Amino acid sequence: MSTDLNELFSNRLEDYLNQSQNPLSYNLYHPERYTIERGGKRIRPYLVLLGALAAEGSASNALDAALSVELFHNFTLVHDDLLDKSLLRRGHPTVHKKWNANQAVLSGDVMFANAIHVLSNYPDELCGKLNKTLSLTAKEVCEGQQMDLDFENLTQLTESNYLEMIRLKTAVLLGCALKMGSITAQGSATLSSTLYQFGVEIGIAFQILDDYLDAFSDTGSAFGKTIGGDILNDKKTLLWILSRSVAAEPILSLPSNHPEYSKHKIEAYLNWFKETGAKDECIKRVTAYHDRAKNRVPDLSKNPEIQDLFYKLLSDLQQRLT
Ligand code: IPE
Ligand code: IPE
Ligand code: MG
Ligand code: MG
Ligand code: MG
Repeated sequence: MSTDLNELFSNRLEDYLNQSQNPLSYNLYHPERYTIERGGKRIRPYLVLLGALAAEGSASNALDAALSVELFHNFTLVHDDLLDKSLLRRGHPTVHKKWNANQAVLSGDVMFANAIHVLSNYPDELCGKLNKTLSLTAKEVCEGQQMDLDFENLTQLTESNYLEMIRLKTAVLLGCALKMGSITAQGSATLSSTLYQFGVEIGIAFQILDDYLDAFSDTGSAFGKTIGGDILNDKKTLLWILSRSVAAEPILSLPSNHPEYSKHKIEAYLNWFKETGAKDECIKRVTAYHDRAKNRVPDLSKNPEIQDLFYKLLSDLQQRLT
């Protein structure tokens, strides 16, 4: 990713955090600051800026849209950690763990509200278009999150059920980020839609890889989340779907109240994912989605420098595999 664009966005985020807030609402905003200051890869705001550049606009004018998308993303993480009972995010305790469920709900809500409010910095017509795109995506993310939860209790699932779930919970936001960038630069409807498709493709690869790393990351601290969390939650990841299509799930020999049960379950499922070939197959799928997205780059911009930013992005995303 380009360091200049990342720095531009970091400065905007810094300004946002430094704006004055009602001191009586400290408890509301502290978890927001805590979450944002823990960083993250900031891929989505980067995509907003790239979308603006692809539409021959300026990155500076897209900064508030980028802020909006990153605030929205952080809101989904705070609520997602509550839904997933996750203890670790970006290498630190999750908001519901450090504070409590009420604080996670409410500070998440205010981040979502701020994500919408910051769009009002744009002229009305532009604000309306951006809002329409973000709110549709927000609705889809909720639908995907509901499917993700429902799937925990289902065992008859197909790969296309899985792909639809991750398209909604994760991929559409990456598409939305690129499209919002293009909208800030008055990009054509055709370009916005091609950028959106590109974003959805890299988003699907992103979630397959996230699922893979949740099971097999050996850089635990860089991943910043508890390894094996998806297995313990019975999440229907691609690893599970592909394994289940060729073999029955492992039978666990320790009862679930045994202190070693979690470790035992994780080990059994990791072996299952390897033995069925699902582990290797997941990597192939990630590469295939990246290749598909790569083929679209010439349609995103005719400017070789901007094309290079997209190619570099794809190679950075692929690097997470190693
Ligand atoms: C985490 O997203 C949620 C998923 C869609 C997998 P990121 O991996 O982009 O999270 P941060 O922002 O870098 O922490
Ligand atoms: C990410 O799904 C989807 C959203 C946050 C909307 P995960 O539940 O896999 O994300 P992580 O692994 O907790 O980051
Ligand atoms: Mg989660
Ligand atoms: Mg989740
Ligand atoms: Mg995950």
